[in-house]
Amino acid sequence: MKLVAPSILAANFNKLGDQIEMINQSEADLIHCDVMDGVFVPNISFGIPIVQAVSQLSKKPLDVHLMIVSPEKYINEFQEAGASIITVHYEACTHLYRTIQQIKDLGIKASVCLNPHTPVALLEDVISELDMVLLMSVNPGFGGQLFIENTYRKAIALKEMILRKNSSALIEVDGGINLEVGKKLYSCGVDILVTGSFVFNSENPIETIAELKRL
Ligand code: DX5
Ligand code: ZN
Repeated sequence: MKLVAPSILAANFNKLGDQIEMINQSEADLIHCDVMDGVFVPNISFGIPIVQAVSQLSKKPLDVHLMIVSPEKYINEFQEAGASIITVHYEACTHLYRTIQQIKDLGIKASVCLNPHTPVALLEDVISELDMVLLMSVNPGFGGQLFIENTYRKAIALKEMILRKNSSALIEVDGGINLEVGKKLYSCGVDILVTGSFVFNSENPIETIAELKRL
């Protein structure tokens, strides 16, 4: 699959409604919402009220990326706020298997995110339970960073595990993605590209999203 999820972290929040409408008009498949708590990552972004507002305006499913500690405490609220996919970080979940079930019991898609230093092999015993795996290709917490090259190798290893374990999980990659990087990621078996600054800082975001889709 070749899916694109613009990250609204890079959007102009002064006119968030217009930015969401732009995505509605585009070929984007999802809207990526980066929730940061200032503890799990060294930055604070937005929370439940913004996700709720975005879901009321969006015609695309919401892909909610929780960069927070103890995500299990907030999963129900984010589902009620309109999340279609909830991603929790492997590094933030002591009882990951239980947290994945908690998400799935709400009738939405469950996803786990790995920081750049966390090996994909750690997902061996939960991969069959997952709808998606998110690989961070930057250190989480900020947009506009450089892509970490080792992510290509991790994506290939993850794809191999997914096929070997007969999992239906999709692979999403997040951080520092542009056309050149996106093309290589799709060739590594990646399904979804998250992109913030490359789309929102471009002259014509709708055209940029279309170019990513045509890769
Ligand atoms: C970073 C976030 C990313 C970020 C991507 O922690 O998870 O989603 O917004 O932004 P770019 O595409 O600018 O790297
Ligand atoms: Zn993200």
